[in-house]
Amino acid sequence: MEQHLQHPVFKALAGIADAHHIEAYIIGGYVRDIFLNRPSKDIDIVVLGNGIEFAELAGKHLKSKVAVFKNFGTAMLKYQDLEIEFVGARKESYRSDSRKPIVENGTIEDDQLRRDFTINALAISLNKASYGQLVDPFNGITDLNNKLIRTPLEPELTFSDDPLRMMRAIRFASQLNFSIDEQALNAIKKQKERISIVSKERITDELNKIILSNVPSIGFKYLFDTGLLHIIFPQMANLYGVDIINGKGHKDNFYHTLQVLDNICETTQDLWLRWAAILHDIAKPATKRFEEGHGWTFHGHEDKGARMVPKIFAQLKLPLNEKMKFVQKLVQLHLRPIVLAQEVVTDSAVRRLLFDAGEDIESLMLLCNADVTTKNEYKVKKYRNNFELVKQKLKDVEERDKIRNWQPPISGNDIMEIFGLSAGKEVGLLKNAIREAILEGEITNTYDNALQFMLAKAKEFGLQPIKR
Ligand code: CTP
Repeated sequence: MEQHLQHPVFKALAGIADAHHIEAYIIGGYVRDIFLNRPSKDIDIVVLGNGIEFAELAGKHLKSKVAVFKNFGTAMLKYQDLEIEFVGARKESYRSDSRKPIVENGTIEDDQLRRDFTINALAISLNKASYGQLVDPFNGITDLNNKLIRTPLEPELTFSDDPLRMMRAIRFASQLNFSIDEQALNAIKKQKERISIVSKERITDELNKIILSNVPSIGFKYLFDTGLLHIIFPQMANLYGVDIINGKGHKDNFYHTLQVLDNICETTQDLWLRWAAILHDIAKPATKRFEEGHGWTFHGHEDKGARMVPKIFAQLKLPLNEKMKFVQKLVQLHLRPIVLAQEVVTDSAVRRLLFDAGEDIESLMLLCNADVTTKNEYKVKKYRNNFELVKQKLKDVEERDKIRNWQPPISGNDIMEIFGLSAGKEVGLLKNAIREAILEGEITNTYDNALQFMLAKAKEFGLQPIKR
């Protein structure tokens, strides 16, 4: 802590506070993160008085421009790589139908009491007489040590003041590997429906932070157990459960998905690859059948799953751009390497996988590896060995045939010129025939070979070249 407080910016703020006889504190996440050894660049300052006026004084002193948010009674300035936000201490109560509070001036303890969690209500004094002193009326440090998310107020009040905090509780638990205090957990269960007054964007922000934590299953289990998941992302909650017919059950797809997600988090920080892990089996409930003599099947869940992706992205206000397309593609292809690993691997099957996956082949292989969740050591070993074979084969075929970023060796324009055609069905047919021949290994991926093949094929269609 000492070392953080040596920063000239805090000395400057302390000077202003004393010169104007205002009490000022560092508060919230920045203080929490000092004790957790997580470096942070966002600083919240609370003053007993007018936060905006204090920010203006600080801005003048630090020669920084101040952004004022009058409606919120806050102001912000940037200094070096730090973002500093100022607010006056508040005693707040919220209206039940909105997140916008009714605000009154308060003491530092009033302000701490209205914050979300005890670990986020820690304050450090900036005034000379008590510089660096920790103000912790709600035992935030004890909760940090016990790895506990607890509210300073009655949890029902804290969450009803701002229902987004239900998501934040779970997000912090997942990010920090903390537990949520039982009373707080019960309050979330009771008030879960109030999440509906929070905007989808803010909910998804928190959800993405859960997904980006080291072990996201911690957060998802809380989301499921409190019932929040059923409201914000019902398709995922729907994965839960096991049906048994004739003594035969299938695996629980909710817990399987969480295992796949945790697995992939060991190999990637990419949010969208993590989303692909979440969604890879999303259509299993919708495609589940019990077939006599066969057991449980989920035929076509990869196709249906890929078709579900845009709707889920739209519902969660996730971007409907190339990120979505990437997730969709991985959901669509997620079984392909496994199928390859189970069969004798032919070059043409490998070429087809490379063609379909393109640039995303490595991500797809990571997803497939993560998808192996059987507890059977023998099976795990077998799968992993086969994957290695598939990977080697992918490498060999790619080196030889360059399929990964495949561009047709003869373009549509070439075809039109050679046969004097205008755009139409025949051009597409010839292009497809060339692609199929290359993927099947009938011809190599070169212009000359493709040209010879195309001329022979064109003859079958009754087409004559007008130039050679
Ligand atoms: N806060 C709160 N209720 C909220 C949001 C924030 O009480 N719904 C308070 C907490 O004291 C929090 C501080 O405002 O520490 C700053 O909020 P924010 O910047 O959103 O979160 P941090 O705690 O700083 O954590 P992170 O940066 O990881 O989001």
